[in-house]
Amino acid sequence: SPLTSKTQSPPTLSIDIDNPASVKRQLAQIFEVSLKATVPDEEDVVPLVDACTAKTGGVKFGDYQCNNAMGIWSKLKGKETGFRGPPSIGQAIINNLPPSEMIDSCSLAGPGFVNVVLSKNWIAQGVQRMLSDGIDTWAPRLPIRRAMVDFSSPNIAKEMHVGHLRSTIIGDTLARMLEFSRVELVTRRNHVGDWGTQESSHFGIGTIGLKVDAFVLQFGMLIEYLFEKFPNQENVSETAIGDLQAFYKASKLRFDDDPEFKLRAQQAVILLQSGNPRYRKAWEQICDISRAEFDKVYQRLGVQLEEMGESFYNPYIPGVIEQLDKLGLVEDSDGARVIYVEGVNIPLIAVKRDGGYNYFSTDLASLWYRLNKEKLEWIVYVTDIGQQQHFDMLFKAFRRAGWLPRNENAYPKCTHIGFGLVLGDDGKRFRSRSSEVVRLVDLLDEAKRRCKTALLERDTTSDWSEEEIEKTSEAIGYGAVKYADLKINRLTNYTFNFDQMLSDKGNTAVYLLYAHARICSIIRKSGKDIEEIKKNGYIVLDHEDERLLGLHLLQFPEVFEEACSNLLPSVLCDYLYTLAEIFTKKFYSNCQVVGSPEESSRLLLCEATAIVMRKCFYLLGIEPVYKL
Ligand code: ARG
Repeated sequence: SPLTSKTQSPPTLSIDIDNPASVKRQLAQIFEVSLKATVPDEEDVVPLVDACTAKTGGVKFGDYQCNNAMGIWSKLKGKETGFRGPPSIGQAIINNLPPSEMIDSCSLAGPGFVNVVLSKNWIAQGVQRMLSDGIDTWAPRLPIRRAMVDFSSPNIAKEMHVGHLRSTIIGDTLARMLEFSRVELVTRRNHVGDWGTQESSHFGIGTIGLKVDAFVLQFGMLIEYLFEKFPNQENVSETAIGDLQAFYKASKLRFDDDPEFKLRAQQAVILLQSGNPRYRKAWEQICDISRAEFDKVYQRLGVQLEEMGESFYNPYIPGVIEQLDKLGLVEDSDGARVIYVEGVNIPLIAVKRDGGYNYFSTDLASLWYRLNKEKLEWIVYVTDIGQQQHFDMLFKAFRRAGWLPRNENAYPKCTHIGFGLVLGDDGKRFRSRSSEVVRLVDLLDEAKRRCKTALLERDTTSDWSEEEIEKTSEAIGYGAVKYADLKINRLTNYTFNFDQMLSDKGNTAVYLLYAHARICSIIRKSGKDIEEIKKNGYIVLDHEDERLLGLHLLQFPEVFEEACSNLLPSVLCDYLYTLAEIFTKKFYSNCQVVGSPEESSRLLLCEATAIVMRKCFYLLGIEPVYKL
């Protein structure tokens, strides 16, 4: 069940990212030279360089650590070398370092850790270069050109629930991260559970062996109810139907209460499937209304998706299954056509016993299409972790067929990004007060409304225009909902709580947006032309908190790389929060900016912080606010 909160395995950096701005990678290059000189006979000694964090207990001794000495010592054991133990290897690593402007000093600690203190001038220059050349020079490069994120993907004529909201928020951020990594084409695909006219269709629920008939029956039910409510109308508008969910509920009542209505609904399915124009038209209207409802959510979130629903792949299903059959993958099981994959004891059902297709059939065909027609190199699927097995089996079947490389990290690759449930305060699945499912549009509007109230209470907003108030409350409200979701490890269930996510203290979008607005106002109030300072001024990091801020800014490229190669937006959120904290609690508390002798250097640090924060906001799909 998706109710478990697993812990993430430690991130592994994918080696094929090109990330020249990464401090860690630059240091690793220097250490590589030293390691070659230190142990010339050892092959493939990969430099192990990491930022010192409070967790590794290192911040006191340095900014980065090289941890190769211990490993080398155990590899050398028994061999005739001059080394007496890891510390002597560590010392040799230090001695063999080529001269570099990056490093201020090195020291040996513990069993052979090499601690590195970076040169503050080098840090300052790095930040300054970003200011003059732009933050896009800090973007890594993924070795692929075409990627797809399959996300949101609600089901037509069904409610779009909080799970779809999570998928929408996470998926859009992942797409932005891939774009920032210079992937030429990133497709945001809405794989909606729609319905073709073929008998073969099915709707995505993610449950294996789902009763399709019961599901299709709902459409008959909706159509009959539509005819009943609007007997003489050709075109029923969205406003006439109003809330599709309420409409759905009312028709369900009708369906359950009246056997005669039920019969008509069943007949409606047959008429619909046989292509009866009147029924088809009604069905299309219901689909349109459904889509309009989804669009309201996308519009609020500022997310653009390209719809290509399940029904699109119907014509491809038979051919793909035939190919798999020819490769010897498809077996008969009680009349159904199934595929067994490694490590899973239940088979993937490609064709049901009645000859019909299902969620799996569609995904077999869509993945085939994506690899062969769309020539995608990385396909990322974002759904709740309840569908993990589905995707695991899908990818394994493709590997068995030789359609995906055996090595899971090689391209073309497929990744399933699962996320936990959204819970209410009661620890149960998130529902609204009336214990029904929550309308997403209402949820987002509520977040905005609460932000507006809080905004109007501030005295600084008295001279704001109506439009400014609206825009700002949208930015904060929607940003808060997104950030609350993105900041937690996505595999964990998360508790939806307005008070928490809209608090201006702690790790929330509100706090971060305020911090950013404050930085902008510091720059504004200085009365100085920041573009002018960028050209002529320079950064000095003499105060320890200036240095701390500068270093953290410079670590953006490597943190982003970690977030991107592991598809973990939470890593980016942690970075952003720490940046705001360092700025506010260290730098701005201890270093006077305006009116100080260091004013221009410090203004540049403010500007650099604002730029990095905005890039993070952008990647997280959050609209920045410039004044508050
Ligand atoms: N419609 C599905 C659901 O609501 C999600 C589809 C995910 N994408 C896919 N290719 N299966 O659960």
